[in-house]
Amino acid sequence: MIELVQLTKQFGETTAVDQLSLTVARGELLVLLGGSGCGKTTTLKMINRLIEPSAGEILIDGRSATAIPAYELRRRIGYCFQQVGLFPHMTVGENIAITPALLGWDRDRVAARVETLLELVELPPATFRDRWPRELSGGQQQRVGVARALAAEPELLLLDEPFGALDPLTRDRLQQSFRTIRAQLGLTAVFVTHDMVEALILADQIAVMHDGRLVQLGTPSELMQHPADDYVRELMATPLRQAETVEALTRESP
Ligand SMILES: Nc1ncnc2c1ncn2[C@@H]1O[C@H](COP(=O)(O)OP(=O)(O)O)[C@@H](O)[C@H]1O
Ligand SMILES: [Mg+2]
Repeated sequence: MIELVQLTKQFGETTAVDQLSLTVARGELLVLLGGSGCGKTTTLKMINRLIEPSAGEILIDGRSATAIPAYELRRRIGYCFQQVGLFPHMTVGENIAITPALLGWDRDRVAARVETLLELVELPPATFRDRWPRELSGGQQQRVGVARALAAEPELLLLDEPFGALDPLTRDRLQQSFRTIRAQLGLTAVFVTHDMVEALILADQIAVMHDGRLVQLGTPSELMQHPADDYVRELMATPLRQAETVEALTRESP
C-alpha cells in the first residue's frame, strides 16, 4: 500500500533521512524503531506531505503521493503527532471532530463517531467530551490525539510515539486495545517508537533506523534471531536484559 523509494531529506548539512526504501502491505503495521534523532518523525511527515522530500518518492497504492490532492490525503490518512497539538480553544469533542467536519459529515454521524472513539481510548464521553485540552493530563491528551487520528475512518494511520506520555499500566492497556482496534478495522499503520518492547508487541514488521538510514527490516522474530549488525543486536537484547535484571531483583527479595 505504501512504498518509499530512496526517500531522502536534507536539512542544510543534516541528512535526516538517507535513501530510505521500504514497503508496507495493506493491513500491516510497520514500526519505525530507532533512537532520538534517527529520522523517524521526518519520515512520517514526508509520508503525509507535511515535509517535502529532498529526493526519492512515496507511492500510495502505486500512485505518487505528490499527485494525490491534499483533501484526499486528509481523508485517507490519519496522523497522530508526537506533540499532540490539540487546539486549545476547541473542546475534546470538537478536536476529534475536525476532519469529519471538514469532510462534510452530518452532525449526528460526527457526534456518534466522537462518542465511539472516546469510549475506545477509555475517556468516558460524559466526562471528557466537553472538556478543554488544558483540563487533561499529558496521557489523556495523547489519547485524544489517537482518537482524532482515527476520526475520519482512515485506511492508513501514522502514529508518532502515541503512547509516550502514558503511565506503564495505561500504556499496556492501550497497546492491547490498539491491537484489537487495528485488527477490527483492518488498518494499515506506520507506528513510530523508540521503545523496543512496544515494537515487539505491536509490529508485523520492524524497520530499524540509525542516522537516517534503514539498518534492518524484518519481523520481530527475524530481528531477534538474525540481527543485521551490533546495533540491532544490542537493541534486541535490551528488553531481555531488563527482564533478567528484574527477575534477579525479585529472587533477592526476602
Ligand atoms: N525542521 C528541521 N530543521 C533542521 N533539522 C531538523 C528539522 N527537523 C528535524 N531535523 C533534524 O533531523 C534529524 C532527524 O529528526 P527527527 O526526524 O525528528 O528524528 P526522530 O523523530 O527519530 O527523533 C535530527 O538530527 C534533527 O535535528
Ligand atoms: Mg520524533
